[in-house]
Amino acid sequence: MISNELREAINEQIKYELYSAYMYLAMSADCADRNLLGFANWMNMQAREEVEHAMRFYNFVLERGGRVELHAIDKPPTEYGSPLEIMQKSLEHERFVTARINALYDQAQQENDRAAQVMLQWFITEQVEEEASIDDIVQRMRMFGEEGTVLFMLDRELGAREPEEEDEE
Ligand code: FEO
Repeated sequence: MISNELREAINEQIKYELYSAYMYLAMSADCADRNLLGFANWMNMQAREEVEHAMRFYNFVLERGGRVELHAIDKPPTEYGSPLEIMQKSLEHERFVTARINALYDQAQQENDRAAQVMLQWFITEQVEEEASIDDIVQRMRMFGEEGTVLFMLDRELGAREPEEEDEE
């Protein structure tokens, strides 16, 4: 049985994962509005993954005999600036999520909740990948610019992102 404190912290995290999906969807709409359809696709795929993250936490709470309580999700901004600024805001957001996951892990350790620690290890690895893939895009845009042919090529590359197969665990 999961403790009330950890259950409440995970319920809060479900909200942040769903906010992430909301934010990436808003970014996708902003990009689509500016005809950056590759960026819009990449953000859309990101939003789908965030819903999967929320469901991992949701299922974990239920499996541990806890009660899921869904909290209100904030409205995300509608405009995010230049293509580089959009990616920088994504990276900043992922760093915020990483800090929250790390805090959850610390809490699970303090409570000696091994099952929660194992579950959170998946997220720790996932956050390393998420930050690295966005940082790679940010670094390339800083190096090569974010206009003309460079933007066209990058938009095409981001347009090729497809949904990931969900791994069964
Ligand atoms: Fe669910 Fe992008 O972290």
